[in-house]
Amino acid sequence: MGPTFLRLQSLSELVKTIYNLHPEAKYVGMFDMNVPLVVIRDPELIKSIALKHFDSFMDHRSFINEDQDPLFGKNLFALRGEKWRQVRSLLSPAFTSSKMKNMFKLMSACGAKFGNYLAQLPPEQRILEVKDVFTRYTNDVIATCAFGVSVDSTKNPKNEFYVYGKEATVFNTIAFIKFYIFRSFPWLARLINLKIIRQKITDFFRDLIETTIKTRDENGIVRPDMLQLMMETRGKEGKAELSTDDMVAQAFVFFFAGFDSTSTLMSFAANELAINQDVQDKLRKEIDQVLEETNGQAPYEAINSMEYLDAVINEALRMYPIAIASDRVCVKDFELPPALPGLKPFVVKKGHGIWIPTYGLQHDPNYFKEPEKFDPERFFGEQKKDNLNCGAYIPFGLGPRMCIGNRFALLETKVILFQLLARCDLKTCEKTPNPIKIAKNSFNIKPEGGFWLKVLPRKDTHHTIATNHSRKLLITFFKFRVVCVSCILSLYYLLFKDLNYFKKHGIPYVKPLPIVGSMKSTFLRRESIPDFIKSVYNLYPDAKYIGLYDVKNPIIMLRDPELIESVTLKHFDMFMDHISFVDKNQDPVFGKNLAALRGERWREIRSILSPAFTSSKMKNMYKLMFDCGVDFGSYLAQLPPEERIMEIKDVFTRFTNDVIATCAFGVKVDSMRNRKNDFYVYGTEATNFTGNFIFLKMYILRTLPWLARIFKLTFVRKEIANFFRELVKTTIKARDENGIVRPDMLQLMMESRGKDGKTELTIDDMVSQAFIFFFGGFESMCFAAHEIAINQNIHKRLQNEIDQVLEDTNGRATYEAVNSMKYLDAIINEALRMYLVAVVLDRLCLKDFELPPPLPGIKPFTIKKGHGIWVPVYGLHRDSKYFEEPEKFDPERFLGERKKDNSDDFNESSNIYLSFGFFFRLDNM
Ligand code: HEM
Repeated sequence: MGPTFLRLQSLSELVKTIYNLHPEAKYVGMFDMNVPLVVIRDPELIKSIALKHFDSFMDHRSFINEDQDPLFGKNLFALRGEKWRQVRSLLSPAFTSSKMKNMFKLMSACGAKFGNYLAQLPPEQRILEVKDVFTRYTNDVIATCAFGVSVDSTKNPKNEFYVYGKEATVFNTIAFIKFYIFRSFPWLARLINLKIIRQKITDFFRDLIETTIKTRDENGIVRPDMLQLMMETRGKEGKAELSTDDMVAQAFVFFFAGFDSTSTLMSFAANELAINQDVQDKLRKEIDQVLEETNGQAPYEAINSMEYLDAVINEALRMYPIAIASDRVCVKDFELPPALPGLKPFVVKKGHGIWIPTYGLQHDPNYFKEPEKFDPERFFGEQKKDNLNCGAYIPFGLGPRMCIGNRFALLETKVILFQLLARCDLKTCEKTPNPIKIAKNSFNIKPEGGFWLKVLPRKDTHHTIATNHSRKLLITFFKFRVVCVSCILSLYYLLFKDLNYFKKHGIPYVKPLPIVGSMKSTFLRRESIPDFIKSVYNLYPDAKYIGLYDVKNPIIMLRDPELIESVTLKHFDMFMDHISFVDKNQDPVFGKNLAALRGERWREIRSILSPAFTSSKMKNMYKLMFDCGVDFGSYLAQLPPEERIMEIKDVFTRFTNDVIATCAFGVKVDSMRNRKNDFYVYGTEATNFTGNFIFLKMYILRTLPWLARIFKLTFVRKEIANFFRELVKTTIKARDENGIVRPDMLQLMMESRGKDGKTELTIDDMVSQAFIFFFGGFESMCFAAHEIAINQNIHKRLQNEIDQVLEDTNGRATYEAVNSMKYLDAIINEALRMYLVAVVLDRLCLKDFELPPPLPGIKPFTIKKGHGIWVPVYGLHRDSKYFEEPEKFDPERFLGERKKDNSDDFNESSNIYLSFGFFFRLDNM
């Protein structure tokens, strides 16, 4: 097998070469490593071994110890002797025709979903790697049929099922080496505790099965799937019981086989259909015929009796047998007839193996004329029977040990090809392999370069499914009309609402427009929000405050520092809450966080959380942050030269992500190495405020809350909320069960439970608080890095200070040492002054409150209960009255004597520096 191990020859080519070595022989000998192996060429002999003498050749050669890798070692394929018999007879009922009929509905629904998804792809995405799409389909089907779990890989392309399944079924170089060690040096595999499947993946599948079993047991749920059959073995007298590990292993092998092999078959078939347009046309006609006859319903019986579809799939399986060869191990000495006339019979010894060279047989011109030609006709009409029964067609193996899932695989493939070709045309593109060359770098059969095709929506979709389309269009149109009417009504309200509120009171104000209020420039994307705040702030340089409209709500923007202090400190009780725009019942993750809470509830939660931010707690968290920081620093320092130019925000986001994960959620994440971890993906999505869709969503949430309620619009997507909710739930459970105590925020919240006189926090409350960390201002970090890079003198001076600290602390950079770095502190303060995250702070007026006149000669003005105030922090921070040369990045202003003047201490003379908010509602981050 040298050339295959050296990647000079694909496994399929190797099998074919060996098969063709002695065309007259019934079998040939070879070595698999050091084990003698007989490759059986003669179909009659194969049948005799696999059927008549099955008892002598019952098992596969298994090389993975079940204790070492239970997922691989305990599954049906690997099981031996009696244990195999028991498990096989137990699982067989899951694959009967009646079970297939039940599963057909699930497959059909998935198939139609994928067909529609592909038909609706935008033009620029029409060239695609179809294996990926088919794998997502098989993923969803197997998830529901074997695991009883519903997954939608079109909507959630990064679901764990798919990600882990893909990783577990890729046979790349590392897997290749692992297999080699397992087969050739099992002692070494044991010694280094080698596993084919990563522990995390094993754990994922085990957890999933365990939880599903537990939920079904507890709630008496019964589902007609494979898991259920396995569960029912428990506690039955005379029947072997399956342990959870056994069940996990079986479910996994279904997943493994269902996920990759079947999608490979689909991909080869699709590829050949694109190359052979005549075959595609004929198949499409058959599909349209079925749609016509069944009025678009295409039930199980109809699809199963499609002769040409069956022929196309059979031919794809002939040319590209996913299992290139099958094996058996000889369990007692067995005499083979002579390999060639004149030779002696040969005895296969117990423990030695045989191979059935499927690929060689199925490409042999003696059995299949022009074997390299894709020709479904050989499995159609008269010829079908002969070719199927010639003895050389064995894509699913043969005998009692043949593939248990063959019906399932065939049905699943029929369904997707049917649904796909009913809606789409498959065409070749530049990258389509034609003719297909099998890749040498993989154990799995696949073409060099992948399966690239162009998928176009059909122009002549059969009217029965086109009608469904129009019905859907009609519903969409109706929904659209509802939205339009709602919008017109709200527009009417906004247009005729009193826009002269401030004018009437003689207050300097920014002229509003209907719908957008005073914020036209930001709506038209002509001005950023910080610039808008600054320009409003600068509009009346002498006024103590200015009126404006936040869309339709009257807002008073306070300009005068004294007045800001009075309102937010002295009269805090009247301006306690933020203007919140998310309903806490509708969007608990966003609506229940500290920033959104009001009144007494806010006070309670704030007092629970405050201890999490004392200096001593910070000192504990410092260690966690420090470790993350060291990790990031080293990672960046070691990047190869071609990766040294980077988008720094991405890096900082990953850093803060890891810090939040450990400090707020108590979970360890490594976002630089594991770049697509759920924590990062969901966290960044939840905190992404860019894009027109988000803008529109915010607008509706803020301005038309009733519409948001009707559409159940949430700020944080349900799936993201669920992810964090589950995370917090599991962490709490693990801590409760194992008595784990960690010095983090979650722990403090957990401790509030069951305490007399203290309010209990629900899971949603806790998730919401932990979640707010994501909104912590890491943007300022990016700006700081940017300014440091531009100002090399600052860069040098900071590095000197860092080196000094390393020198003084012998490289340990303790909490105290880092905290007393004056220049570092000044840089961060200056970055926060210039590039603060909360460019404006808001409060809600809780009872009517009289403000002094905004300008001399004007009457005092009473701000009404329910109206809001804004503190234009961005404007204040960029006002030359308070900060000399405000547009200059100058850390010196936060050093020595000047620091005092510019500091954030309200007892000092200046109260302008408001990067973290003010007084009680000081920003938590
Ligand atoms: C195109 C798709 C598939 C192909 C080509 C395929 C092919 C095979 C082959 C050749 C064998 C070995 C048979 C032998 O040694 O005689 C096998 C075994 C097996 N296959 Fe499949 N298979 C496919 C899909 C599936 C699916 C979807 C499932 C499960 C849902 C599945 C589950 C199994 C299991 C559990 C075994 C081991 C059976 C035993 O040892 O008793 N396969 N398959």
